[in-house]
Amino acid sequence: MRFEGKGAIVTGGAGGIGKATAQLLASEGARVLLVDRDRDALAKAAAEVSGEVHAFDADVTDDRSVRDYVERALALFGTVDILFNNAGIEGPVADVTEYPVADFDKVIAVNVRGVFLGLHHALPVMVRQGSGAIVNTGSVASARGLPGSIAYNAAKHAVLGMTRAAAAELGGTGVRVNAVLPGMIDTRMLRTLVTTMADGDTDAGLTAAAAAAPMNRTGSPLEVAAVVAFLASQDASFVNGAGYPVDGGALAVMPNGR
Ligand SMILES: NC(=O)c1ccc[n+]([C@@H]2O[C@H](COP(=O)([O-])OP(=O)(O)OC[C@H]3O[C@@H](n4cnc5c(N)ncnc54)[C@H](O)[C@@H]3O)[C@@H](O)[C@H]2O)c1
Repeated sequence: MRFEGKGAIVTGGAGGIGKATAQLLASEGARVLLVDRDRDALAKAAAEVSGEVHAFDADVTDDRSVRDYVERALALFGTVDILFNNAGIEGPVADVTEYPVADFDKVIAVNVRGVFLGLHHALPVMVRQGSGAIVNTGSVASARGLPGSIAYNAAKHAVLGMTRAAAAELGGTGVRVNAVLPGMIDTRMLRTLVTTMADGDTDAGLTAAAAAAPMNRTGSPLEVAAVVAFLASQDASFVNGAGYPVDGGALAVMPNGR
């Protein structure tokens, strides 16, 4: 029960990784506010996660909505101890020269501006408290170039940059900011991407995605949630500004190395 009585916010809480993390935090005693812009999926997730779970329908790209979800968590829990800054979109698959400009802007808005706004509004509360942990969701795309996803690559590099910049500012405040860098995790997002890349053949796409890691399989949302929970907990009390891969070893090796 590492999070007994703690107040936690999980953005993208209706999605694969967000929901699994909310469930894990709640199962260890956290009181959780799920934030998502997909109202139906949000209501479903809030009903499915056991423990104290509240739902807040918001778009993380909207400054006022982000301020409101932080205020709502504060009103519900009295403190904001954990922010899992996780909402994200993948955008289309297209080479740089073909990538639609409007989609570039959309991906940057959700994956960069959304994460920035979470930091911008949650950090003052945490600094005032003298404690708190934020975990941002990066990706293996925070550290490597992936073909066909220029905006996603740019955004996830930015997430790691923002994690480091925020950690650099927070010395002595009692607040830590880290990032988790998932590899190929079996969620709606990965299935959408690999299906497109494998011309509609989801199974072939998942097999190819699995081959990106020396463990030769995709990961589960719960395997990411476990690392997020670690980073959010006192077990990680001296971990700050880090980007933790949860990728079956993908970032550690040369692709097609043998
Ligand atoms: N699945 C993977 O393989 C993988 C790998 C690396 C990183 N990630 C990252 O993990 C995070 C979670 O992705 P997932 O795999 O669970 O996908 P998902 O699509 O299941 O979940 C994403 C959730 O974010 C929500 N969302 C999107 N835009 C939003 C907005 N503007 N405001 C509020 N909510 C919004 C969606 O409605 C959805 O519920 C994302 O940041 C993604 O980039 C996923």
